[in-house]
Amino acid sequence: MIILSDSSEDLLTCSRLLKKGDIAAIPTETVYGLAANALDEDAVKKIFLAKGRPADNPLIIHISRTEWFAEYCFPTDEAYMLAKMFWPGPLTMILPKKSVVPDIVTAGLSSVAVRMPSHPTARKIITLCGFPLAAPSANISGKPSPTRFEHIINDLSQNPYVSAAVDGGNCECGVESTVVSLVGEKPCLLRPGAITVDMLKQVLPDITVADAVLQRLQKNEKALSPGLAHRHYAPDAETVCLTGSTVSVLDYINSHFDDKKTAVLCFDGEEALFSNYITIPYGSPDRPETLAENVFAALRKADGIKDCEVIYVHTAPPDGMALAVYNRLLRASDFRVINTEENV
Ligand code: TXA
Ligand code: MG
Repeated sequence: MIILSDSSEDLLTCSRLLKKGDIAAIPTETVYGLAANALDEDAVKKIFLAKGRPADNPLIIHISRTEWFAEYCFPTDEAYMLAKMFWPGPLTMILPKKSVVPDIVTAGLSSVAVRMPSHPTARKIITLCGFPLAAPSANISGKPSPTRFEHIINDLSQNPYVSAAVDGGNCECGVESTVVSLVGEKPCLLRPGAITVDMLKQVLPDITVADAVLQRLQKNEKALSPGLAHRHYAPDAETVCLTGSTVSVLDYINSHFDDKKTAVLCFDGEEALFSNYITIPYGSPDRPETLAENVFAALRKADGIKDCEVIYVHTAPPDGMALAVYNRLLRASDFRVINTEENV
């Protein structure tokens, strides 16, 4: 894997590699993506191999100009309104697909996920390529998404399928894009992100939220978004989400401590109170965008602590932008959430 900067020359190199069917890790404003020419089946195949991604989990295609939108799907009036309001930016729309998009990209579905990222580097690469890029988050399937360039180096530098990685620094949002389906009876939020439900309601007043955003899928239940069916974002250590005040979370951890090496992902300013444990502050619940920005880096840091067996995460209530963080933490913990104010 060659390491590239965001200089014009390096981005040209990246686009040349993508044009010949190679795959590359690139920065976006949400998380790093692992990109391939979305119209080249063999290139897209490499993404699935590199990530160990199940073939039933479709990919998002990334465009850099609104004129491309209708080339790959059938946008509705609402879709154009959403594009006008939120693109470029962290919003993905699911729409009926056009046949130019290979089946491997959509895992055989008749719909396709499309987004226009706002990250200048991602946009330049797509424009230099002249074709849309299929790009899932660049993590190995099931692991926390990469939001810092060092995560890419750790995960992919030895990966035989990945030709290059572009260093774009830290990802601003830190959680993946909001995914909205526009193919059902009513518009439906499949994955929460930095574009919140309230923001979407300006264009989609009757939007619903998929059950899988906050609940484990029931056996035999078909996922609207296949990605929600798979175990995800999970560190190796046992991970438990704790809601409640600082004091009740601390009481809970103290009373359940059993000599296992324990890390606590706490809010900024709580470090001193949790100092009996390894603390990793990850932002402030008053500014949920800070939690989003840091949550994956914090999970990875906790997972990197030698012999760490338990990770407790002080978790903010799922309101507004914090819904996206809560949704990722639910999956990271395999839905283990404890309200410490009820369980002391
Ligand atoms: O922010 C992002 O969206 C990042 C960056 C790299 O752009 N990409 C990303 O891709 O998160 P990925 O593959 O990790 O997540 C895509 C999600 C998955 O849950 C997938 O199941 C869902 O979108 N998805 C893709 N196509 C779909 C479709 N046609 N119908 C329903 N869900 C779809
Ligand atoms: Mg992903």
